[in-house]
Amino acid sequence: MTTTAYLEDANKIVILNPKGGCGKTTLATNLASYFALRGPPPTLIDTDPIGYTTRWLERRPPDRAEINGITIDELAPRGTHGLSFRKPREAGATIIDTPAALEQREISELTHDADCILIPVLPSAFDVHATTTFIARLLQLTDFERPVAVIANRTRKNTRSLAMLLEVLRSFETPTIAILRDSQNYVHAADRGLGIYELPYHKVKQDIEAMEPIVNWLDQVLVKTLQPGLVSRFNPLPKLFSSSSTELSTAD
Ligand SMILES: Nc1ncnc2c1ncn2[C@@H]1O[C@H](COP(=O)(O)OP(=O)(O)OP(=O)(O)O)[C@@H](O)[C@H]1O
Ligand SMILES: [Mg+2]
Repeated sequence: MTTTAYLEDANKIVILNPKGGCGKTTLATNLASYFALRGPPPTLIDTDPIGYTTRWLERRPPDRAEINGITIDELAPRGTHGLSFRKPREAGATIIDTPAALEQREISELTHDADCILIPVLPSAFDVHATTTFIARLLQLTDFERPVAVIANRTRKNTRSLAMLLEVLRSFETPTIAILRDSQNYVHAADRGLGIYELPYHKVKQDIEAMEPIVNWLDQVLVKTLQPGLVSRFNPLPKLFSSSSTELSTAD
C-alpha cells in the first residue's frame, strides 16, 4: 500500500463551535502538531478570515515536522456545498479550523463532507448555553450523520464551573471525550508555532495525557474512512515524546 492510498477527501476533522474563544484554534494547531510528528504531514485549513491558524503556521520554525497550510484565500467554494482545496497526495489528516459566529448555512457547508467534528467548550454558563444550542442545531441538519464529540477546555480541577460543565455535558447526546486543563503550555507553544507535543515532555506530560482520548477517538472514527491497511502506516507515537528536546523553560 502506498501513501497515495488515502481516499480522496478523507480524514477531515472539523473543529467547530460558533462560540468565540473556546479553543478551536488551539485544538486545531495542537492536532496538526500531533499528526505532523506522527506523519504523514497533515493539512491544516484555516477558514477563519482573522487567520490565527495561518499566523501560527507562519511562526512555525522551518525545521519542525511538516504541516501543509491552506489559508482562507486558497479555498474555493465547491458547488453549493463544501470547500475545495489542493491537498498534497501524500497528506495525512486534514484539520479544519473554523471561525466564531457562524450561520447555519456556513455550518452546513463546513460540515458537509467532514469525517468527524470536534467541539471545544469552556466551563462558563454562557459558553455552555451557546454550545448546547449549537449542538442541537448541528444535529438537526438533515444530512447529518458524522461522529461528533465534545471537549471540555480550559478547565480547573475542583471548581464549581467544571462540575457544572460536566453535569451539563453528561446530558448531551454527543459524548465528551476529553477534559483539557487551563494550561500556559498551550499559550507558550502557540507563541512559537508549536504544539504541546513539541515542548519538553516533563512540562507537558499532563496535557499530552489529557489529549490522548482525543487522538484515540480520532483513530477510531477516521479508520472507517481509510482504505484497509493504511492505518498500519502510522508510526507508533511513544518515542516522540522524549525529554531530549530543548525548549522553553517557562513553568505552567
Ligand atoms: N487549554 C487552554 N489553556 C490555556 N489557554 C487556552 C487553552 N485553550 C485555549 N486557550 C487560550 O484561549 C484563547 C482562545 O483560544 P482559541 O484562539 O484557540 O479559541 P478559538 O475558539 O479559536 O477563538 P475564536 O472563536 O476567536 O477563533 C487563546 O488565547 C488561547 O491561547
Ligand atoms: Mg480561532
